[in-house]
Amino acid sequence: MMKTKGFFPIDRFAQIRTPFYYYDTELLEETLKTVKAEIADHPDFHVHYAVKANFNPEILKIIARAGLGADCVSGGEVEAALQAGFPANSIVFAGVGKSDEEIQLGLDADIFRFNVESLPELEVINELAGASGKIARISLRVNPDIEAHTHANIMTGLAENKFGINHEQLPDMIRKALSMSHIRFNGLHFHIGSQILDMEDFIALCNRIDWILDKLEAMGLPIGDLNVGGGLGIDYEHPNRFPMADFGKYFNIFKTHLCLRPGQQLHFELGRSLVAQCGSLIAKVLYVKQGMYKDFVIIDGSMTELVRPAMYGSFHKIENISAQAREAHGIPYVEHEYDVVGPVCESSDVFVKGFKMQESHRGDLLALRSAGAYGESMASGYNCRHLPRAIFSCDNAGSGK
Ligand code: LLP
Repeated sequence: MMKTKGFFPIDRFAQIRTPFYYYDTELLEETLKTVKAEIADHPDFHVHYAVKANFNPEILKIIARAGLGADCVSGGEVEAALQAGFPANSIVFAGVGKSDEEIQLGLDADIFRFNVESLPELEVINELAGASGKIARISLRVNPDIEAHTHANIMTGLAENKFGINHEQLPDMIRKALSMSHIRFNGLHFHIGSQILDMEDFIALCNRIDWILDKLEAMGLPIGDLNVGGGLGIDYEHPNRFPMADFGKYFNIFKTHLCLRPGQQLHFELGRSLVAQCGSLIAKVLYVKQGMYKDFVIIDGSMTELVRPAMYGSFHKIENISAQAREAHGIPYVEHEYDVVGPVCESSDVFVKGFKMQESHRGDLLALRSAGAYGESMASGYNCRHLPRAIFSCDNAGSGK
């Protein structure tokens, strides 16, 4: 049974300038423990944390300490992962447009694997590895042409997307990789999208991979290891009831539907499902304004701290944690319908419209839940706003107080 989550130390929050991210590090640790337990019987399964989801140094350190590898998409992420203590030989490096400098960084650090997305990239890696007297270990990222049932902006595995190598061109690419003197072809990489809740999508991926492997084997080509990317979704509506994704069900799909060859290793790149539920954006109500047709709660948090609602129309549950504290002191719950909006000069700086929540007043603290993934990591300085700070449930972790 999962524990009920969602406790906020509101007295401690009173001392801290809003908006800020609050991370429940116990939930993060528990999530990591669950993931490790679910694959404990499969020493051939390896999980790399997708650093893009949250690269707060304290979060990275906790995940590195748990023994996961890292999945990076830029030189900066490779540096952040190394600094946080991820061993170089656990780092995979993906991305359609790796610069020469970034490739060199990966070569110098001797990372585990480059996930290569095109022939010109493969040629550059071969050239740079040759000039450094190194052999680059690579996987080829295959575009499986599978539709994940998620937001169009975070679907990556369709033929029309920019990612990966068309599976029809794959045999030729493998032959080319095998012929290059400074490349070691080590396997295939896939990733179909993010926030995937329909497990059928992962089954479809497994089936497509099985089909591709059979085809390659029939051609007498090697396959190497497999990397199935990330994408497991979380419950944005019920962060307390479902503080963890169903990792058992997820891994079971790959245990059941993927025909691993003897000795073949299977890599995962999970981001959101590891960190989303442990993070909340804490913001203060500046004003409650009566509009012509509706009431607005204007908060000091905005799309610059949490861009997902403006960018993808995503829902983040909002709780008035000051009102919850008042309730605990006997002041009854009064429901009211609001649009909750930020102060940035964009009409899209809206967190939610027509949302029923506790009646809110100036000075109340709100928690925007499930914001641990793609929240802090996508923050910007638009409107000269300061980047948000981070506070941790565990006192001895923290990058700001
Ligand atoms: N591997 C690759 C190659 C990826 O492109 C991604 C995410 C992941 C792994 C991790 O996927 P996850 O387990 O987190 O779903 N900013 C968007 C999400 C973008 C995901 C990009 N790629 C959002 O806020 O929903």
